[in-house]
Amino acid sequence: MNFSLTEEQQMIQQAARDFAQNELLPEVIERDDAQEFPAAQVKKMGELGFMGMMVNEKYNGSGLDTLSYVLVMEELSKIDASSSVIVSVNNSLVCWGLETFGTEDQKQKYLTRLATGEIIGAFCLSEPEAGSDATSQKTTAKDMGDHYVLNGTKNWITNGNSAEIYLVIAQTHLDKGHRGINALIVEKGMDGFEIGPKENKLGIRGSDTHSLIFNDVKVPKENRIGDDGFGFKFAMKTLAGGRIGIAAQALGIAAGAYELALKYSKERKAFGTEIANHQAIAFKLADMHTKIQAARNLVYQAATDKDNGDNYDLSGAMAKLYAAETAMEVTVEAVQIHGGNGFVKDYHVERLMRDAKITQIYEGTSEIQKIVISRSILKD
Ligand code: CAA
Repeated sequence: MNFSLTEEQQMIQQAARDFAQNELLPEVIERDDAQEFPAAQVKKMGELGFMGMMVNEKYNGSGLDTLSYVLVMEELSKIDASSSVIVSVNNSLVCWGLETFGTEDQKQKYLTRLATGEIIGAFCLSEPEAGSDATSQKTTAKDMGDHYVLNGTKNWITNGNSAEIYLVIAQTHLDKGHRGINALIVEKGMDGFEIGPKENKLGIRGSDTHSLIFNDVKVPKENRIGDDGFGFKFAMKTLAGGRIGIAAQALGIAAGAYELALKYSKERKAFGTEIANHQAIAFKLADMHTKIQAARNLVYQAATDKDNGDNYDLSGAMAKLYAAETAMEVTVEAVQIHGGNGFVKDYHVERLMRDAKITQIYEGTSEIQKIVISRSILKD
């Protein structure tokens, strides 16, 4: 597979690189410390077209391909994974889900504003007792004829407070299992919809993660996405693409940490020479570089599969699995190469190491990716 980028893709990549350096890097440490949502940066990313990258221009999107999207995710994540997860959820889960499965009215009403970043969205699947085991939804959406009544709790929701639009997965027909689940569009401010306290997280501390509580929330029927009972498939299909975005995030975190470690190892001296001249460090850099390139190939392959209309369940899961494991390994090594400096905040690698951990957990843990991969390779 040839991943030579078009001129347009290279320009988009450069725009994201410049934006990350000029707009995300300043105060990234302070935002991480304070758990501060990057509101001004999200607004600018909307202006640059990063919030609705793959959305058709007729719905105010940028009309770009998935490969362009992962290039942007990679560049943003080298510097600030808190900002890139906001981009990823809005693009992959919310905009893509609505554009692919929503009605024309839903697209006009919500997608046109989500695609510009005027508002952002959240994807609400996980529950206190249904994280990896996503079919065990306890949140209920009772069918009342012209509307649903929503009750339950969602956990660990990215953009939990900053979103205006929430795609909520809930059980309507208890007797039908995952075939009785629906996906509903819930607006912030609907009666009975409460946002729980913000989580105090290890990493991606700039993004706001909350639980959500639904107490008899009346959701009009026209806010259901797809046919009755389509909600679980909606979630699975949407997450399959989301995993490519998070794989690109993991790739970016790894690449960002590697670039810092490479630079540091050429500057820092020990035992009379730059530490890069010691084989112990040079071999670490060789391993890191090799793994990152392998992860990049998997991520670009998955994006290309999606752009070509090929099935990307397998390639997306492999990309997510390998890139997330790589992000964790490479960031740990980047801290090691930095020695004592790696353990303090000013050098950025400790933050990248903390941020890397979530890529092995959200949008399906590494173990979930192995379920998807093994089922795919064993099914024939
Ligand atoms: N596309 C379409 N349909 C799919 C599908 C896909 N990729 N994957 C599964 N399905 C369908 C199956 O075909 C099946 O439907 P039928 O019975 O009609 O054939 C149905 O979904 C159930 O599938 P399984 O029997 O395979 O379900 P399972 O219980 O064995 O579990 C799983 C499957 C892969 C483990 C799934 O539960 C899963 O992906 N879990 C992880 C959930 C997850 O990623 N959570 C992350 C939360 S969101 C998040 O993190 C966002 C954020 O904030 C950043």
